[in-house]
Amino acid sequence: MALSGGLRLRFAAPDVRAAYKKAAGVRHLTQTTDSNDRLQERDDMRAKTAVVLGAQWGDEGKGKIVDVLSERFTAVTRYAGGHNAGHTVIIGEQKFVLQLIPCGVLRPGCRGVIGNGVVLDPIAFLKEAAKLRELGVAVDERLFVSNRAQVILPYHRMMELGAESAPGRKTIGTTRRGIGPAYEDKMARCGLRVVDLLRPELLKAHIEAACAEKNAIAWALYGNETTALDSEQMYEEYAAAAEQVRPYVTDTGRLLNKILAEGGSVMFEGAQGTMLDIDHGTYPFVTSSSATAGGAVTGSGVGPTKIGTVISVTKAYATRVGEGPFPTEIREAVGDDLRARGMEYGAVTGRPRRCGWLDIPLLRYSNQVNGADWQVITKLDVLDELEEVPICVGYEIRGKVTDEIPADVLGLEEIKPVYTTLKGWRSSTEGIKEFDKLPAEAREYLRFQERESGARIGMVSTGPDRDQTILLPEFAAALDQIHA
Ligand code: GDP
Ligand code: IMO
Ligand code: MG
Repeated sequence: MALSGGLRLRFAAPDVRAAYKKAAGVRHLTQTTDSNDRLQERDDMRAKTAVVLGAQWGDEGKGKIVDVLSERFTAVTRYAGGHNAGHTVIIGEQKFVLQLIPCGVLRPGCRGVIGNGVVLDPIAFLKEAAKLRELGVAVDERLFVSNRAQVILPYHRMMELGAESAPGRKTIGTTRRGIGPAYEDKMARCGLRVVDLLRPELLKAHIEAACAEKNAIAWALYGNETTALDSEQMYEEYAAAAEQVRPYVTDTGRLLNKILAEGGSVMFEGAQGTMLDIDHGTYPFVTSSSATAGGAVTGSGVGPTKIGTVISVTKAYATRVGEGPFPTEIREAVGDDLRARGMEYGAVTGRPRRCGWLDIPLLRYSNQVNGADWQVITKLDVLDELEEVPICVGYEIRGKVTDEIPADVLGLEEIKPVYTTLKGWRSSTEGIKEFDKLPAEAREYLRFQERESGARIGMVSTGPDRDQTILLPEFAAALDQIHA
């Protein structure tokens, strides 16, 4: 049952299998029986992978959703970002906020992988692993770090702080974790990878050269001679951290492909959100990595033909933290009410999140960029008290109505959202676990969203806890294929 009819199952659906078999039946000059088997194998692997990512500006509740789904997966891998992410998982009385470590590790038996697309602060990683251990999570032997991931070093933070407050530079409102400068170095081909972090001589030479260069740039650009970094001290600290990181390091692309080849399943845990993606987001007010579905491929070492399903997580409204355009931002008091009800404060920085209404053109864009098969709606309960719920269904830009997302900030800032208003339900949806038990107006709100945004709703979240979740039957059936 689709909420509003439409798309078909993607998880190893029988018609997809049949199409492969048919294609395999076509005679090619080089065809052998083996190639049929290979196609079947590829089909089976596709059925066992899913990308879970954010549709908006991050904080959509990905952590909760990854946690709910992780019981069906052999491994969960992060593929982008770093400890700028803050993924909250609530299990009974316990609250976990994961930054670098995938939420999958909270499930006994599920492996956690930090992929090559991630920028890793070794000190932050060790702290997070220690904290999880303290909370009783068995992280050792289940956690793996890519030898190809890039390393964040203190000069990345120094450069970021300088740039964020430099006259003439746009303030992005970053998380101040050194993320952007670490990705800059990666692309400039002067970054340090985890594999090299583990070689003391190489690490020493790298730190010496990088500190000399970054100190000089920081002094020239930002005049902060007094905060110049001491390379010797940095080397001592990071060489010691490297030894503690060493046991986790492996070729994670190889590991993930092996898991799939052996019939296991892999979930790709997105960080940030589509509108923060370096290519597809509200540039330059974005993060520096590929948060979208494409990033799952480049950031993990698993090829695109093995990615089965894309699940896009969106709030029932919208939030943004940091600077940048936000067409449906609410400037009236009701925005503060949503912030209070939704407890919209950054999981990492504690900053208040800006609140806005659901933006359908943006979701359509996001679903298109990601090729989303399914969407998950979170925080429906936060809207419980509203008499009516506005939804943005189009944009007016300089008197013209459009649903195209402008590529430039000026264009984005000129958007006047066109709203339609649906009736609120004014009763509690908190903790409801069945779609049919939702108030009629809430069901209509979800149906409207599904109809307009181009991807089926597979799950609805009605509270932060694992159990406060509605699983739609066809999505549940699709998930069952992962175990098949
Ligand atoms: P992420 O970065 O996408 O993982 O999201 P965050 O963890 O930063 O922010 C989402 C917040 O909403 C967390 O505090 C979650 O515990 C909470 N949350 C998730 N789903 C729901 C829900 O359905 N209802 C409510 N009220 N809170 C939720
Ligand atoms: P999760 O995974 C929300 C935002 C920052 C800033 C911009 C650039 O929890 O959804 P950066 O430090 O990445 O260079 O900052 O991106 N940002 C996030 N906003 N959720 C996140 O992650 C974010 N990660 C980065 O606030 O506007
Ligand atoms: Mg978050």
